[in-house]
Amino acid sequence: MPDRPAENVSRGNLSRLLEKVHAERNLDLAQLRSRYVERRIGTRLHALGLHTYRQYATYLDAHPDEYPLLIDALTINVTQFFRDTPVWETLCANVIPPLLKAKTERGRRVLRVWCAGCATGEEPYSVAMCVLSVIEDLGLSGIVLNVIGTDIDRRALAVAKQAEYPNSRLGEIPRRFRDSYLEVADETFRIGSSVRRCVKLHYLDLFGEPPVNVVDLVMCRNVFIYFNREDQERITASFFKGLTHGGYLVLGRSERLARGLADRFEVVSTSDRVYRRVK
Ligand SMILES: C[S@@+](CC[C@H](N)C(=O)[O-])C[C@H]1O[C@@H](n2cnc3c(N)ncnc32)[C@H](O)[C@@H]1O
Repeated sequence: MPDRPAENVSRGNLSRLLEKVHAERNLDLAQLRSRYVERRIGTRLHALGLHTYRQYATYLDAHPDEYPLLIDALTINVTQFFRDTPVWETLCANVIPPLLKAKTERGRRVLRVWCAGCATGEEPYSVAMCVLSVIEDLGLSGIVLNVIGTDIDRRALAVAKQAEYPNSRLGEIPRRFRDSYLEVADETFRIGSSVRRCVKLHYLDLFGEPPVNVVDLVMCRNVFIYFNREDQERITASFFKGLTHGGYLVLGRSERLARGLADRFEVVSTSDRVYRRVK
């Protein structure tokens, strides 16, 4: 189906539609490129035989089950290695070193990271590479890294478990990580065994199963876009409980911490959506 913006529509109508989606789903689409948003929403209008954003807003009111389809249209193929470079710079500089320092000071050995909604594995492998490199840079020994990647999509998890990606994706991975942590062949590369052995992947529905507990860092990025505000708040409350004292939570760049949870976290980086559990 061709991507096309709604016909005969004014930008004002689109802004109102985006405000509505923000108010009802806490999904801040203003963060995304407007041409992209117009094209993707256009596919939904076309599929429904609608012509204006206003008609679509009315349709959403009458058919709330349209929201997941809108979100699917907006989130096709959206994971990648080291997605949103500044977030990874913040993690490497301001999150992982203090976590490792606190571990070593307390004589603890295991650092646990949970990637909730890990899709095809790029995020858990990226975070594992990041932590392993900081451990090496700091000259630490005896730290055990456990990265747990979970998702509701079993097909995505199967891809993640293969840990093999086309070489056209190599550019997503910083050179120093490529040299240390990848096994590159003619057409594909595989995540190296030193990284794979730190990463466990399994099915987990954020609404069905108990959350992963005793974690130092939760990454739940670009997943809340699927949920309404109440559910976002409920899931964030479960992350709070699962985090160790002083542990960190990272959300996607178009997502925000639910208002009701603001007093339980301090902001580490507003733009990168990095929060720290207040003790
Ligand atoms: C857009 S991807 C995000 C991937 C990665 N976190 C990133 O930011 O690149 C969102 C993922 O959330 C997963 N997801 C959606 N609802 C979920 C739920 N209830 N429980 C677990 N995962 C869910 C989807 O299957 C999808 O793989």
